[in-house]
Amino acid sequence: MKAIFILAITLSLTLGDNTFQTNITDSLTITQQVWQFDQILDHFHPLKTDTIWKQRFCTFSQYWNPLNGTVFISIGGESQMKGISPGRGWLVQLAQTYNALVISLEHRFYGVSQPFPQSDNDDSFSVQNLKFLTHDQALADTAYFISQVKQNLFADNSFKVSNMNPFITVGGSYPGALSAWFRYKYPHLTVGALASSAVVNAIEDFWQYDNQIYTSTLKSGSWCPSNIQAFINSIQTEVNDPDTKAALLIQFQAQQLSVDEFLFFIPDNLASFVQYGQRTILCTIFNTTDYETQKSNLVDYWNQNKNFPNATVYSQNFLNNPKKTQDSDNMRQWLYQYCSYFGWLQTPSQIAGQAMRTSSNSISFFEGQCTQAFQNSIYVPKPDEVNGFYGGLNLLATNIIFTNGSEDPWQWASLTKSKNGMIAIVSDCDDCAHGVELSYPKPTDSQALQNTRTTIKQNFDKWISDFRSQYVFSYVQSQLKKINQ
Ligand SMILES: *[C@@H]1O[C@H](CO)[C@@H](O)[C@H](O)[C@H]1NC(C)=O
Ligand SMILES: *[C@@H]1O[C@H](CO)[C@@H](O)[C@H](O)[C@H]1NC(C)=O
Ligand SMILES: *[C@@H]1O[C@H](CO)[C@@H](O)[C@H](O)[C@H]1NC(C)=O
Ligand SMILES: *[C@@H]1O[C@H](CO)[C@@H](O)[C@H](O)[C@H]1NC(C)=O
Ligand SMILES: *[C@@H]1O[C@H](CO)[C@@H](O)[C@H](O)[C@H]1NC(C)=O
Repeated sequence: MKAIFILAITLSLTLGDNTFQTNITDSLTITQQVWQFDQILDHFHPLKTDTIWKQRFCTFSQYWNPLNGTVFISIGGESQMKGISPGRGWLVQLAQTYNALVISLEHRFYGVSQPFPQSDNDDSFSVQNLKFLTHDQALADTAYFISQVKQNLFADNSFKVSNMNPFITVGGSYPGALSAWFRYKYPHLTVGALASSAVVNAIEDFWQYDNQIYTSTLKSGSWCPSNIQAFINSIQTEVNDPDTKAALLIQFQAQQLSVDEFLFFIPDNLASFVQYGQRTILCTIFNTTDYETQKSNLVDYWNQNKNFPNATVYSQNFLNNPKKTQDSDNMRQWLYQYCSYFGWLQTPSQIAGQAMRTSSNSISFFEGQCTQAFQNSIYVPKPDEVNGFYGGLNLLATNIIFTNGSEDPWQWASLTKSKNGMIAIVSDCDDCAHGVELSYPKPTDSQALQNTRTTIKQNFDKWISDFRSQYVFSYVQSQLKKINQ
């Protein structure tokens, strides 16, 4: 289930009223504003206006010019989102280039955007409530939000947005898919979409993810995947031995996990190095064939970087709990989303010799998580339904840029070939992983990554100028009509 979210570590500090600051890099701090929007609970019910809830959105307006600026809608996904985070820092530069207003819209059921805030008599994430956590409701939230923004019915009228301003959606990973799907479902509301590492193809048995961990680590040399495989084998033996199990779990702060949960927790967290562009670090940790050294290298790395993975969220007990406890909670909601629709169950590679996890990470393990957490066997993935709605890899829409990081294990669920009106770009470079081009540009970025950003901007330029000529054209037409009347 590796958390597919782009780490939303938003370090913020309240300045009074609704402004807060975010450190994008060591030397760049931006000021954003936080707002709430009255959002509709059920967009597909005739009495939809009956229930509203508060959806969080944040604005970054330092460079905004209502006369000629673009509005970027940064779509939230399966984690909390308080404005632009370092992982989407490129938006700050884009805002400057396009005199843009950047609006970050948090996804329903994540962070503080809760249709059902936790109370004594209502659990936020009960099965009953989670039925409103669907991809089509999330797209409809975005559509309703954008249509209100275009009419300036938001944020105290402060930004003077008008029909003259082109809108572009931006998202990475699951929000990347939402960004692409939004172009398909609601093309009249935007001029284009950036769909970074967009997982538009729902797949139940997603063994290609694990296979890419093999392929990516192979770039360091065949010793890297083979040392990791030996490590996984040893850890499997050790956790299955009653004499050594307890000490092993303590070493990884994972006493609360069952054997199968532990055998998911470890490879999932190794995969996240690759997913977030740290393949070379992972291989350095495993540049030894000695099992004890491998273990201590890994534990030391996590301790030194203060990012020891939290085993609790891998336990079935945690996944079963319908109560919201922290704004950062996301595992149960995301589990619901992939159990009810997407799949993407991360099973071992089916190519001989290339599995980077054990056979206990089987489809039945993941489906067991789904049925236990939601007490009903209907919660198994329905990828055909999602792909039927949106087209999967046959999605047909215009003005979408799909990006693929060459080391990203999620690329196998994304579109990687250009076709009519949709452009696919590959960033083929070391450590180029999930949503790589969205982070704040660094002088050390590879040429391939710089080229990706240039191509994206060239497409934005074209969409915006096409929009302007159409807008001017229709404005002139309407004036001529008035004269002729
Ligand atoms: C942001 O960085 C500045 C130093 O540049 C530091 O003083 C401040 O505490 C940081 N803010 C947060 C919220 O971490
Ligand atoms: C918008 O207009 C201002 C003032 O004329 C100009 O400086 C700026 O470059 C323009 N921005 C864009 C994105 O066209
Ligand atoms: C360590 O990495 C080097 C290449 O950087 C490689 O030649 C060597 O075989 C690796 N050692 C082990 C034990 O995997
Ligand atoms: C791990 O996550 C759980 C659930 O969110 C939380 O209650 C716990 O405090 C976390 N543990 C650590 C060490 O951060
Ligand atoms: C993504 O790009 C890399 C680098 O060119 C390529 O090897 C890989 O096959 C591409 N992924 C897919 C799914 O086509």
